[in-house]
Amino acid sequence: MLLKFLHILLYLTLYGAAYTKLSDDSLRALPDPGSDFDIHSGALLSPILIPRVSGTPNSTLVLEHFVNFFKTNLPDWHLEFQNSTQTPPAPYDKPTPFVNLIAARDPPWAADGDASRLTLVAHYDSKVTPEGFIGAVDSAAPCAMLLHTARSVDAALTKKWGQMKAQGLAEGGSLEEERGVQIILLDGEEAFVSWTDTDSTYGARSLADSWETVIHPATSNFPNPISSISLFVLLDLLGSKNPTVPSYYKTTHWAYQSMASIEDRLRKLQQFKSSPNHPSKRSVSSRDSKARNQPRKEPMFLPEAEKVNNFFLGGRIGDDHVPFIERGVEVLHMIPNPFPKVWHQPDDDGDHLDIDTVEDWAKLVTAFTGEWMELEGFFDTSAASKRDFYEEDEQLANVISRTEL
Ligand SMILES: *[C@@H]1O[C@H](CO)[C@@H](O)[C@H](O)[C@H]1NC(C)=O
Ligand SMILES: *[C@@H]1O[C@H](CO)[C@@H](O)[C@H](O)[C@H]1NC(C)=O
Ligand SMILES: [Zn+2]
Repeated sequence: MLLKFLHILLYLTLYGAAYTKLSDDSLRALPDPGSDFDIHSGALLSPILIPRVSGTPNSTLVLEHFVNFFKTNLPDWHLEFQNSTQTPPAPYDKPTPFVNLIAARDPPWAADGDASRLTLVAHYDSKVTPEGFIGAVDSAAPCAMLLHTARSVDAALTKKWGQMKAQGLAEGGSLEEERGVQIILLDGEEAFVSWTDTDSTYGARSLADSWETVIHPATSNFPNPISSISLFVLLDLLGSKNPTVPSYYKTTHWAYQSMASIEDRLRKLQQFKSSPNHPSKRSVSSRDSKARNQPRKEPMFLPEAEKVNNFFLGGRIGDDHVPFIERGVEVLHMIPNPFPKVWHQPDDDGDHLDIDTVEDWAKLVTAFTGEWMELEGFFDTSAASKRDFYEEDEQLANVISRTEL
């Protein structure tokens, strides 16, 4: 009894707050992707920047890249495929395989169906037309951002759960923390001919359908994998310069505000490379030091944290979240409005990405995930942690050209 009480006290002290912000030190210490977003040789992004229409050999190659990434770097993540065969409209009317990849990490003590999951999502297929279409913002870059996010929170999750287990907090019945995270890389988002309810979101529709019929054990916290989704964060069309993402849904405006607050803090801490106030952007040629030190207006990715007009666009943009929203899932849709200029154009390729912006999104989503997963105190804030990830990875070291250290 006393022991239990102490557990409660300790738990409330350490993990009691519903949503703990990351400290400035933690925000500053978020891992740097180094050259991993290089469009030609970057370990995360470059393998995705090829045409990868669903059902083609290139699509399989990209899927293998994801699987290798997790198997090599993040062995604690559980990988699962969800497959379907569907027939798009003519002239593409052949039975086509669609393969979704789900990579998940739950607290080690969480039983099947007991962990809620922060769910981070992007689609990896590319559009059939125009011929040779790459889809860099749509959605190669968002996929790479999510790989970076998974990698950046992994060690902190291990540390946190290890500590909780050591302190016996895992054994306390209702005191169990059962908060997990999953990355979903969806196939078949794009229409083959033109966007309709049935010619689009092939992978997402199949996944939502199938997850409704997967039944968790009767004693579990959540009846099925749909109900386990605590928040469905969908990244799409990210990687062009100066995006503005509105808050689409009233019911997740609070989560949007959390993300926007992190953005604001990262900018103030000069951790946003695309910011006109980032040290790398301040003109050193200007002799007028007064002008040089004058802060420039920050162009916010998420400008609607304070909106008062109560106008939410939600529901007007068809995307992979729709089959989940229809099943009652809470969605944070990270898609710019207006869409980037390159949208569905031949120039949506690596050369037209703004890599600073790609890195900033990756950092923002990482920080949001860190707060959601209550990782304050578990990031390595020593300077040594700010290194390239693959420093010690012999397999990959030869393909990475380091730009800093
Ligand atoms: C597959 O990707 C390669 C680049 O690695 C590209 O040259 C080729 O055209 C792609 N194949 C198809 C069918 O799109
Ligand atoms: C789903 O497809 C993947 C990739 O082709 C394959 O490796 C996997 O075995 C399939 N899974 C099932 C359950 O069919
Ligand atoms: Zn698209």
